[in-house]
Amino acid sequence: EKGGYDSFMLKEIYEQPQAVRDTMGARIDQEKKQVILPELNMSDAELAAYDRLYIVACGTSMHAGLVGKDVLEKWTRVPVEVAVASEFRYRDPIYTDKTLMIVISQSGETADTLAALREAKKSGVRVLAITNVVGSSVAREADEVIFTWAGPEVAVASTKAYTSQVIALYLFALYFAQVKGTLAAAEIAEVVEHLQELPAKIGAILANVEPIRQFAQSIQDATSLFFIGRGLDYAVSLEGSLKLKEISYIHSEAYAAGELKHGTLALIEENVPVVALATQPDIYEKMVSNIVEVKARGAHVLGFALEGDRDLAKSVDGVIHVPATTPMLTPILTVIPLQLLAYYTSAARGLDVDKPRNLAKSVTVE
Ligand code: M6R
Repeated sequence: EKGGYDSFMLKEIYEQPQAVRDTMGARIDQEKKQVILPELNMSDAELAAYDRLYIVACGTSMHAGLVGKDVLEKWTRVPVEVAVASEFRYRDPIYTDKTLMIVISQSGETADTLAALREAKKSGVRVLAITNVVGSSVAREADEVIFTWAGPEVAVASTKAYTSQVIALYLFALYFAQVKGTLAAAEIAEVVEHLQELPAKIGAILANVEPIRQFAQSIQDATSLFFIGRGLDYAVSLEGSLKLKEISYIHSEAYAAGELKHGTLALIEENVPVVALATQPDIYEKMVSNIVEVKARGAHVLGFALEGDRDLAKSVDGVIHVPATTPMLTPILTVIPLQLLAYYTSAARGLDVDKPRNLAKSVTVE
């Protein structure tokens, strides 16, 4: 059932080219290079009228939402707030008749996410769900559903569900931009082409895991680790950090790199491992100066850069290159080596990768 892999997690990591392809599937008009979302019950005019979005989810699904926020705001200019469901459900959110709520849940059964959905519906807010399970509570109760077609995810650590959720968010953001007219047809076509290249690019990353396996071995006895990045790289850092602590039990934190100076830099000393993501062109120089700061304190830095980058290697101890794509889509690629880092570290420590202690696959109680 593990298809020759030693764990479900590794199998699911390798299923990502397919999961991404299936989630895009019929939602792309090949000729027009546009997005089609026939599953939406609302008209284009109804959708275009929304001027405020909440994205509510837990854990990894919330991290997918953080990528979604940046992308939605960039492409549609509609403000988006991302909230963890366990907080959101007890808040007094500001709703108007132009507020749309998006809930994201792989299982569709997470108690807090479901409760937030119910609260919103009670207030008359339309809820769009992104979920992986047909027939789940979230799928049944939401007004609108965009399914991720990742197939069953068994490992507690979510991998292919995350990448599929991010794809669903890209598709929704593009469609929303299409109906709002905030992106030109040519701009949409360009992103669509980049989207279609992602499965092959994920495949290329998965074909060269050795550098990441070696770095995992080097950190297997570490007591603490830092992930740093800016913008979308920060959103991905949060996911990389969660994945690592969840299955390797090594303490780690993700920081927006510009925040280091405001406290965390005090923790950086000789040989503290730092994973530094520098894949976003517009903030690249700023990121490099943050890397230089941690290097100066003795950190052992693994940098992430785009293919073709020759500069980062000068400032770090090792570099993982990810294939280049349009900057908004890079998270889908950057997250793959981070998932592998968590996996190989957990495996090197001899832990049960698929069933980490204290955790359940689906959190159906508060
Ligand atoms: O099924 P859901 O997407 O609602 O689950 C949310 C979280 O419990 C889940 O993503 C959790 O954070 C994962 N174990 C992370 O790998």
